[in-house]
Amino acid sequence: MAIAPMGHDQLRELKNYLKFLKDCGYTEIPVRALTFKRETSAPDTAPPMPRKASSQTQATLEAVHAELGDCTRCKLSSTRKNIVFGSGNPKAGLVFVGEGPGADEDEQGLPFVGRAGKKLTEIIEKGMGLNREKDTYICNIVKCRPPGNRDPEADEIAACQPFLVKQLLAIRPRVIVALGKPAASTLLGRPVAITKERGIWQEYEGIPLMPTFHPAYLLRFYTVENRRAVLDDMNKVLDRLKK
Ligand code: URA
Repeated sequence: MAIAPMGHDQLRELKNYLKFLKDCGYTEIPVRALTFKRETSAPDTAPPMPRKASSQTQATLEAVHAELGDCTRCKLSSTRKNIVFGSGNPKAGLVFVGEGPGADEDEQGLPFVGRAGKKLTEIIEKGMGLNREKDTYICNIVKCRPPGNRDPEADEIAACQPFLVKQLLAIRPRVIVALGKPAASTLLGRPVAITKERGIWQEYEGIPLMPTFHPAYLLRFYTVENRRAVLDDMNKVLDRLKK
């Protein structure tokens, strides 16, 4: 079988992917991830995302957004600049749930656009071979920035939770990834020890849920073990999406 020579963009993409694997501590190419990429001949490396489509999904998510309105249900509303509802594909098969907006997100009204966001994008695009905007939807357990980047408080999480639940049920993704302890604990309704429970499948309203480290934790504790752990968890997510 003749193999077509790689173009400049494909070579650059391959180089970036290999560099990313090296950063994660790999000394060999993990065959599973490569197989997944090879199976998809899509030009932009985004694998097709099989899912239960619903023509109502978009309208419903918009309705949740409309219901949230210019929210003043908790004290975070008095210090926020913008509500950060969520971004990405409302029909995505994969949803990432983070903790809460930081300064950059508050400024732009979009989730994960700061340093942790860049790391998350790298995980999605280089680590998983997906396209952030097309293949995923990203939101947080609280939609407004906690001042000084403190942890969201219980009353704030409780005020926002109905909207998170409605968002997830409107999208009904095939997999949810909970980024860090607060997101995993909120979704599972119990304290989650993230270092012990990451990488272990859970369920949220019948949807498979994978808890993993928050990208900000990865930036803070930038060890090969932690980076590799997240990549392993994301490979499990990719396997589940392929089923
Ligand atoms: N951290 C989060 O948990 N969410 C964001 O949107 C940004 C940083």
